[in-house]
Amino acid sequence: MNIIIVKDYDEVSRKAADLIIEQIKQKPSSVLGLATGSTPVGTYKTLTNALKKKEVDFSDITTFNLDEYYPIDREHDQSYWYFMHTNLFHHINIREGRKNILNGKAEDVDQECKDYEAAIKKIGGIDLQLLGIGNNGHIAFNEPGSSFTSRTRLVDLDESTIQANSRFFSSKDKVPGKALSMGLGTIMEAKKIILLATSEKKAKAVRLSIEGPQSEDVPASVLQKHTNCTFIIDQAAASLLKK
Ligand code: GLP
Repeated sequence: MNIIIVKDYDEVSRKAADLIIEQIKQKPSSVLGLATGSTPVGTYKTLTNALKKKEVDFSDITTFNLDEYYPIDREHDQSYWYFMHTNLFHHINIREGRKNILNGKAEDVDQECKDYEAAIKKIGGIDLQLLGIGNNGHIAFNEPGSSFTSRTRLVDLDESTIQANSRFFSSKDKVPGKALSMGLGTIMEAKKIILLATSEKKAKAVRLSIEGPQSEDVPASVLQKHTNCTFIIDQAAASLLKK
């Protein structure tokens, strides 16, 4: 695991955007795995600005998002479909048909998940996967207890995740209790992984993921086994690391 500790949120965003731009320059047809949540918003803004300055071109990339609430309409202002379009896709020159997001209204959930896995496989896998981390150590919506070999599936959200994410909804009971999520096994097949974490709220999850034993109680600890995984964290998120 590579650990990059920088000063603050803005520096995390800059560093993450730099690595994504470098990836696209090396391989213009890169397949990117994308994350939602408040953490990557700054990264997406930095990428949008880089396009304006002609430092990057997204016209050949393909993306796969990690997860989506279930059930949820894509037009709902808290769907991850809506989030991705508002924060990134509307501002960059990614082509139609190249943005893959799990359908939060899928009638046949198992088929939806199988098709998603098949699409990732068909394109040759994810070159660079961006991740955030939940306060409880979840990645995507793989909550504590998720198997390290799990694949894309329907999951129940933890009470603590519903509580944490209720800040975006009008009330806690409006947060969907379930989600479709890439599995930990799916995420681990990405060729490169970048995990972003900022603020002291994430410090415990960051410490356990990096320095704790590998355990399904801390889903992000699976990343210790990945051969090309970089954590980009600010000083507050790094504050509980021993080394
Ligand atoms: C959600 C997403 C995760 C994300 C996490 C942290 O639960 N499913 O992919 O990493 O939130 O969000 P934030 O960046 O807002 O702290």
